[in-house]
Amino acid sequence: MRLFVALDLPSSLRERLSWMAGGLPGARWVPPENYHLTLRFIGELPGWRAEEVDGALASLRAPAFTLQLAGIGTHQKGSKVEALWAGVERSPALDHLQAKVETALQRAGLERERRRFVPHVTLARLNGIPEAKVAAWVAGHNLFRSGPVPMDYFTLFSSRLGKQQAAYVPEVEYGLQPAPAQASAPL
Ligand code: 2AM
Repeated sequence: MRLFVALDLPSSLRERLSWMAGGLPGARWVPPENYHLTLRFIGELPGWRAEEVDGALASLRAPAFTLQLAGIGTHQKGSKVEALWAGVERSPALDHLQAKVETALQRAGLERERRRFVPHVTLARLNGIPEAKVAAWVAGHNLFRSGPVPMDYFTLFSSRLGKQQAAYVPEVEYGLQPAPAQASAPL
C-alpha cells in the first residue's frame, strides 16, 4: 500500500481553495476532494507493516488545534516551478503533531524523514509554464487567507496513482485530544 499521513480539510475550506483554481493555462489543478495537508509521506509498505504504522499512530496523543492557511507558495526545481500551494501559518500545535507523527513512525520502524516540514496544501502541479506567468498568478492570489479551521483528527490515507489524478482513500482517522476547557474566571 502507498500511504501518507495528512490532515483532511473541511468542505467549506476545500470550496474556498477551489475558487483559486484557474487562470493559469497548462496547470493541472488538484480536484477539491484531493486537497489535504501532508504531515508525513510514507510510501509503499506491505500490509503487515501498515498495521504496525496504524498501531503506532493509534497510540499517539496530541491536542486538537486550529489551522490557518495564508498566502501562496511554490515548489521549484531550479527555475522550474513544479507545484503551487496554499501556505499554512506555522503553529506550535501543528509542529507538535507533525513531530509526534514522525516519532510514532520511527517507532514503527520507518527511516527518519530528512526533508524539512513545510506545511502546505497543493493546489496545482505545473510543467513548463513560464516563470513570469506563475509569478503573476501568485501575486494575484497571495492575499489568500482562511479563517481558523478546527482540526480534531488526522488521517492515514492510502493513495492509488491514476493517469489523471491520484485517488486518496482515508483508511483510518485518529482523534486529537480536546483542548482543555478554559478555567472560568472567578465571579
Ligand atoms: P505534495 O502535495 O506536496 O506533492 C501524497 O502523495 C502526498 O504526499 C502529497 O501531498 C505529496 O505532497 C506528499 N509527498 C511528499 N513526498 C512525496 C513523495 N516522495 N512522493 C509522493 N508524494 C509525496
